[in-house]
Amino acid sequence: MTQDEMKQAVAIEALNYVVEDTIIGVGTGSTANFFIDALATMKDKIKGTVASSEATAERLKSHGIAVFDLNNVSEMSVYIDGADESDDGLNLIKGGGGALTREKIVAAVADKFVCIADESKLVEVMGVFPLPVEVIPMSANYVSREITKRIGGTVKLRDFTTDNGNLILDVSDLKITDPKALETELNSIIGVVTNGLFANSPADVLLLGTPNGVRVVTA
Ligand code: 5RP
Repeated sequence: MTQDEMKQAVAIEALNYVVEDTIIGVGTGSTANFFIDALATMKDKIKGTVASSEATAERLKSHGIAVFDLNNVSEMSVYIDGADESDDGLNLIKGGGGALTREKIVAAVADKFVCIADESKLVEVMGVFPLPVEVIPMSANYVSREITKRIGGTVKLRDFTTDNGNLILDVSDLKITDPKALETELNSIIGVVTNGLFANSPADVLLLGTPNGVRVVTA
């Protein structure tokens, strides 16, 4: 089974978590794209969606799926999205596609977060994937120095502007043994919008694509 086939398998499995007649939060990235394509097969059974990025909104609309502004939505049954890394406590690193802040906001509104990923994303200790930190543009150098001083790692400015008009610092060479504490510490630096750790609010369910089928992981 290829990596794409595993991503597609978890995307199709995630349809079982879609609650009919409700609004569904939809993530960003290649695995989320497989989910959007799968969701199109049951688009008449949901009220609509909230997108975590402009790219996701475009793809949803291209399938004729309604996309709502989050400010017009007070309830969302489930948020379905991929991840760059997960540990077995369902703590995640997200933001490889740069949509981490909107992803965290949409996930916060949803009753349940179902993460979909191929098995390469499951690690024992997170930090192999560089941790994305979204920052207000004028603060980039200051935040970079503060991260180096307080946390360590290697900080690199990504050549990318987020949907929110901000910049991303990718922090590599980290061994994340306390993801909750690191998420909180990074978010306390002035200029940080948020970081890609989903540890204080981790996923509720991880659907992991393996060559032998989809493994359901719960904390
Ligand atoms: C985007 C994300 C994605 O969920 C993450 O990068 C995984 O992407 P993919 O499904 O393409 O491997 O957080 O900001």
